[in-house]
Amino acid sequence: MSNFIPVSTFPFAGHTVRRMGYGAMQLAGPGVFGPPKDRDACIAVLREAVASGVNHIDTSDFYGPHVTNQIIREALHPYPDGLVIVTKVGAVRGSDGSWLPAFEPEDIERGVHDNLRNLGLDGLDVVNMRIMGDVHAPSEGSIEKQVTALAELQQRGLVRHIGLSNATSAQVAEAQRIVEIVCVQNHYNLVHRADDALVDELASKGIAYVPFFPLGGFTPIQSSALSSVAQRMGATPMQVALAWLLHRSPNILLIPGTSSLEHLRENMKAAQCVLTDAVLAELDAIGRSNGEQ
Ligand SMILES: NC(=O)c1ccc[n+]([C@@H]2O[C@H](COP(=O)([O-])OP(=O)(O)OC[C@H]3O[C@@H](n4cnc5c(N)ncnc54)[C@H](OP(=O)(O)O)[C@@H]3O)[C@@H](O)[C@H]2O)c1
Repeated sequence: MSNFIPVSTFPFAGHTVRRMGYGAMQLAGPGVFGPPKDRDACIAVLREAVASGVNHIDTSDFYGPHVTNQIIREALHPYPDGLVIVTKVGAVRGSDGSWLPAFEPEDIERGVHDNLRNLGLDGLDVVNMRIMGDVHAPSEGSIEKQVTALAELQQRGLVRHIGLSNATSAQVAEAQRIVEIVCVQNHYNLVHRADDALVDELASKGIAYVPFFPLGGFTPIQSSALSSVAQRMGATPMQVALAWLLHRSPNILLIPGTSSLEHLRENMKAAQCVLTDAVLAELDAIGRSNGEQ
């Protein structure tokens, strides 16, 4: 990696998106279930994100369920030109908040219609097929039936572009034999580097890699080495963690999640953090010593 100011945009789903996007999952209630404590605050976060230049928002109708999409609609509809909303199908929520696979073609069609209805759209910009073989990490297994079902919905005009989430390299290759894949959304961050090879593989193909849990998810990353770098730079650890992702590869698009205006503002500024080669080496060592690769 070299000492460069990361390019700020990437060609994605027929648009040019800023690499600093926004993930809407934190806008639902605790456990991504039910309504948030402060709906007005959620609306303010979404509106400020877009006013600050975010033109890539990640969501799903299974956040809430329905709640997050309904808040996005209330905050932003009619949507500004150039805003790319990425959603996902492949799961539903149990009455106890559990995450259940919904992986049959009829489930996928229902999921697309749920997203269309709650977002107030006639067509979805990008739909990720969320693979649920192992909920917590990619695991091998054919996804031909599911991707074919999404490709048929694309032919009907309900879906414009298709991506994958929680996918292996072999699943990306299998899906690409059926339809164009524009993005892969997997678990990846400064300390969770299992997808290093996949990030590079997708970069070579011009496919966006969109890390979920870019800040570590429900338990944000804690690392004394990260805190030390941040302190020296006059930045916060979360800003440095996001800046590291922006430097890691030009095809990485960020969707940090927050329900807080203060955190949103902090995260947006991460795009301005320039990391030197020495700092990048120090940060890379955190992932290597973590043993998760
Ligand atoms: N495809 C999938 O399976 C999948 C899975 C998980 C997530 N996602 C997507 O990925 C997006 C990002 O993931 P995520 O939201 O779960 O995790 P994340 O972005 O790694 O971290 C979110 C957590 O960090 C906190 N946070 C955010 N900014 C902060 C800051 N500047 N300082 C301190 N804490 C901060 C948030 O709390 P506050 O609200 O208090 O800021 C929240 O607890 C989601 O919104 C969702 O769209 C996809």
